[in-house]
Amino acid sequence: MHTLTEGRGLLFGGDYNPEQWPEHVWAEDAELMRAAGVNLVTVGVFSWARIEPEPDARDFAWLDKVLDLMAANGIGVDLATPTASPPPWLGHRWPQTLPVDESGHRLWYGSRNQFCPSSPIYRERALALVTDLADRYASHPALALWHVGNEYGQICHCDESAAAFRTWLQARYGDLATLNEAWGTTFWSQRYSDWAEIVTPRRAPYLHNPAQLLDWRRFCSDALLDHFRAERDVLRERTPGTPVTTNFMGLFKPVDSWAWAREEDVVSNDWYPDPGDPLSPARTALTHDLMRGLAGGRPWLLMEQATGAVNWRPHNLPKPPGLLRLESLQALARGADGLCYFQWRASRFGAERFHSAMVPHAGADTRLHAEVRAHGRELRRLASVAGTPVPARVAMVFGWESWWALEERGLPSDRIDAVDQLLSYYVPFWERGVAVDVVPPGADLSAYALVVVPNLFLVADEDAAALTAYARGGGVLVVGPFSGVVDPRAQIRTGRFPAPLREVLGAAGEEWRPAPDGPVRCRWSGGSEFSARTWTELVAAEGAETVAEFADGDLAGRPAVLRHAFGDGSAWYVATMPDESALAALAGRVLADAGVEGVLPGLPAGVEAVRRGDVLFLLNHGAATVRVPVPGPADDLLTGSPTEGHVTLTPRAVAAVRPRVHAEPGDHHA
Ligand code: GAL
Repeated sequence: MHTLTEGRGLLFGGDYNPEQWPEHVWAEDAELMRAAGVNLVTVGVFSWARIEPEPDARDFAWLDKVLDLMAANGIGVDLATPTASPPPWLGHRWPQTLPVDESGHRLWYGSRNQFCPSSPIYRERALALVTDLADRYASHPALALWHVGNEYGQICHCDESAAAFRTWLQARYGDLATLNEAWGTTFWSQRYSDWAEIVTPRRAPYLHNPAQLLDWRRFCSDALLDHFRAERDVLRERTPGTPVTTNFMGLFKPVDSWAWAREEDVVSNDWYPDPGDPLSPARTALTHDLMRGLAGGRPWLLMEQATGAVNWRPHNLPKPPGLLRLESLQALARGADGLCYFQWRASRFGAERFHSAMVPHAGADTRLHAEVRAHGRELRRLASVAGTPVPARVAMVFGWESWWALEERGLPSDRIDAVDQLLSYYVPFWERGVAVDVVPPGADLSAYALVVVPNLFLVADEDAAALTAYARGGGVLVVGPFSGVVDPRAQIRTGRFPAPLREVLGAAGEEWRPAPDGPVRCRWSGGSEFSARTWTELVAAEGAETVAEFADGDLAGRPAVLRHAFGDGSAWYVATMPDESALAALAGRVLADAGVEGVLPGLPAGVEAVRRGDVLFLLNHGAATVRVPVPGPADDLLTGSPTEGHVTLTPRAVAAVRPRVHAEPGDHHA
């Protein structure tokens, strides 16, 4: 990110698709971009057919002009490899490049994303184009960043994919006997006698083998990553100094973003909060924290967001005035160094005609564009935030493999959702202004006073051992239900559960018991009651104290929440799904155990508080005007005014409070 923001400051801009417009509009675009403070545009994402109108032809003339225009206006270009949407000629001439769904149906061109990740012809054609693109623009002054493909997530069940899956499995297992054992193929007579028999998990009469499904998910993510790497390597070879990214989609199931983030220079994300969902602010904060985690704590880039309504939900609410700014500044506060949109100018045609943009159909003289322009300009006041970290003493563990394994069919319940579970544990920390890092299983936890594992259904031995060592060494560990259940082959860890975490948790379970609809009554040891739902477990304390018990039914009097003093630290186990207020109470207790506090005491409801570098961001997501006490002499960077002990935030308002550093006598640099 540093190479991007140095000399440019915070990045502001969006996807720019000039190929949809006649050239005379481009000049107006450039002028409006300058007026709005745009300094980065993503160009070319969907331009394969424009650059290569027929096989092996090249038309770069229009793109030369666009890049020259951007350079002349001091606007950097995030140049996309246009490989997300191949032209119709590719699928027409080589139908084997088109993806096949699990029922064996080919998906056709006429939309986008229609390629098979394992197709050698697609790979060859994509790399030839990327090579020419990189050769042509390697030393162009506008080139700032490479944007590989777009929102990777394609899945294909064709024969070429099946062959690639077999090759991947051979590398993983070596021989068929090992695969048969890992997949447990003695079950239902699934034993393979020849590699050639193995196919992708195509549509079958009944439940699939869970180990096959898990390996399939791993393979699909790896196959796409392999393609990403191939494009990236072409770019790196030609422009070693230009960073490479590809845009994630938050907690998006098909790609293991931990593995992907290691392979890119800058982490970027596309994020479209639903203005109609009251959980959007918290879900968004969590997603931003995940991006910061993926970036290893370094700044990341919000590659796409909407200025107003999207067009892909069934009913698309617009953003009310001020929300565009609030959401953008939320990303900045949580570690983004760039705030970009999809897209610059609203399309007149195509499937996204009704998607909002920075310049709406009604033109630049509009309420919406005025907000865009004001926001772009105000970012200059916040330039010093670029590059600064968001310090956190709490970590939440989330892993894609466990998510994949948890959300297969044939489990005790399909109502434990890995993302909902993560969000429900995250919310009370967010509400208190406690910064949280999202980390992968196996992460270095030494910097954290508190580690929360909302669910880790699949856990590797070494990752369980790391959690155990963390608590033993003085950390506070919280583990949610149905964790530690299977190993990386999706096989049950036998014995009392959670088998690999039993020692650290001081608890041992023998039955998972999904609950009937309706609340499950529980009681804290102090006597007050709370509700849980959906899930209970028959667990006994084995050294842990019972902090809460079930109040009714077969489990009455049995532990629902346990706390185990372990080594120099402690470990909590939550054997049910407590409601919001109970999770908030639990968060309070574990934060006290860990000695961690929010950035600002007494935060009014609806106000998000997060510190980035030395700036305290206060964001009002609530419907009321609130007065937030702010200690010490400080200034609001957004208004340029002193805070005088408090800030007043109307709905959707934001303050960026920086403590004033007093000059010491003799200090000439104040
Ligand atoms: C993203 C995509 C963009 C555009 C946008 C609309 O998923 O990368 O190309 O389709 O959504 O919200």
